[in-house]
Amino acid sequence: MSPDAPAHPDRPDVFDPARADTSHLAFGYGPHFCVGAPLARLEAEIALRTLFDRLPEPAAADPGRPPARIPSTVVNGPAALPVVPRPVVRDPKEAHA
Ligand code: HEM
Repeated sequence: MSPDAPAHPDRPDVFDPARADTSHLAFGYGPHFCVGAPLARLEAEIALRTLFDRLPEPAAADPGRPPARIPSTVVNGPAALPVVPRPVVRDPKEAHA
């Protein structure tokens, strides 16, 4: 999601992980580009895979109300995003397999 409409004219305020242009500045730019970016990406992938494996269908707790934004000019995003989990019911025998 980017509020930079001139750079990202395709629905800049919409979080769309499937969009074609995935360029962003979250890890900086140029000679000081984040050296921890590969580790951060790996951690995020593991965390999100684990989350959606355990809670594959979280639903917005209050879909009619847009979440409050972080009051910042540096960080962009919702301050909180309450969800209702729909946990997977596993076969207890699989837990110790
Ligand atoms: C989601 C996680 C992370 C984000 C959003 C992030 C973001 C950034 C950004 C924006 C910069 C550039 C700062 C600048 O231009 O002055 C940066 C630099 C840096 N990051 Fe990260 N970072 C993350 C995780 C990490 C991790 C996990 C490590 C180390 C294990 C790390 C180590 C560094 C270092 C050492 C720099 C300085 C690079 C330099 O100045 O050449 N970061 N990071």
